[in-house]
Amino acid sequence: MEKLVSSRVNKQSVPESYVFPPEKRPGDVAVRTCNSIPVIDLGGSDQAEVIEQILRACEEYGFFQLVNHGVPEKSINDMMGVAMEFFEMPVEERAKLYSEDPSQVVRVKASIRYDNEDVHYWRENLRHPSHPVEKFINLWPEKPSRYRDVAATYSVEVRGVALRILELICEGLGLERDYFGDELSSTQVLSINHYPKCPDPSLTWGLQQHCDPNIITLLLQGEVSGLQVFKDGEWMGVEALPNAYVVNLGQQMQIISNGRLKSVKHRVATNSTAARTTVVAFIYPDKDSIIAPAPTLVDVKSSPLYRAFRFQEFVNTYTDISDDKETTLKHFKL
Ligand code: OGA
Ligand code: NI
Repeated sequence: MEKLVSSRVNKQSVPESYVFPPEKRPGDVAVRTCNSIPVIDLGGSDQAEVIEQILRACEEYGFFQLVNHGVPEKSINDMMGVAMEFFEMPVEERAKLYSEDPSQVVRVKASIRYDNEDVHYWRENLRHPSHPVEKFINLWPEKPSRYRDVAATYSVEVRGVALRILELICEGLGLERDYFGDELSSTQVLSINHYPKCPDPSLTWGLQQHCDPNIITLLLQGEVSGLQVFKDGEWMGVEALPNAYVVNLGQQMQIISNGRLKSVKHRVATNSTAARTTVVAFIYPDKDSIIAPAPTLVDVKSSPLYRAFRFQEFVNTYTDISDDKETTLKHFKL
C-alpha cells in the first residue's frame, strides 16, 4: 500500500524514492502555456475547414484540443466525478485492485512500473478495457457505486468522438472513411490518472516524457493543468479548457500515415496546490492486426518509412520505462 503515492500525501516533503537526480528534475522553470496547441471546434459548419485544421494540428503538433465535440457536459462531469471519488476513497479500497501484472484486466498501479524503476512518479492509475462495455463491465470497480453506470455511458460516448475524428483524419489523408473503423480501433482502454498534491513539484514528475503506443488518445484534464507537450525543441503547457478533449496521436498513427502525422512526446508536472485527476481513453488496434503505412500514402515520391508488423510485436517491444521515443520505433523503421 505504501507504493500508492496517496498513502504519502501527508508528508511534508517528497520522499527520497520520488526525487529525480538534479539533471532530470523539473526544476523551477515555468513552461509557457501561451501559444499552446490548436483548439478545434468540431461543431463548426464548414467540414472541409475542420478537416484541414485537424490535419494541420496532427502534422505540426500531434496534439489539439477539441471543443463542441457532442459529448454532453453531464457525462463529462459524471465521469470526472466518479474518477475523483475513486481516488478519494481510503487507499485500502484501491489497494484491493493493485497489481503489477500488466495482464490483469482491471488494475490499479502506482507510478509507471513501481518495482522496475529507479525513481518513482507522483502518480496512481486505474485502467481497464471499456469496449465493448458488456464484455468488461462486470470486472470494473464496484466502488464508487455509480462507477460502472457512469463509465459505461462515458465509454460509448467518447468512442463516438474518437471514431468521428478518425473518419475526419481519413478524409484529410485521402483514405477510405472507415480505414480505422474495424480492427485498427477495436480495443479501447479507459485509464484514470491521479496526481496528488505534491509538497515540492520541482523535485519529481507526474509522468515521464513518452509517446502513446496506440492509435489515438482522448484526454480530459478537468480544471487543473499539468500536461506538457514538446514542440520545436521546447516544452509547452496545455491550458485546461473546461469540457474540452485533449486529443493526441499514438505511434501507430504516425506509422500508418507514413510519418505525415506525428506522435509527439509529452509529460506531466505535479503541483502543490491541487490534486489532479485525468480521464484518458486510448483507442488501440487489435493485437493481431497488421500495422503498416497505408498503401495509398506510399508512392515513388514517398517510399515507406516503416515495415509491416503485427501489433502484438509492437506491444512486446514497447517499453514504458524508456523516455526515448525512438527506442521502440527504430525496430520498425526501414
Ligand atoms: C497518458 C498521459 C497525461 C495526463 O496517460 O498517456 O499522457 O495529463 N496522460 O494525465
Ligand atoms: Ni500519454
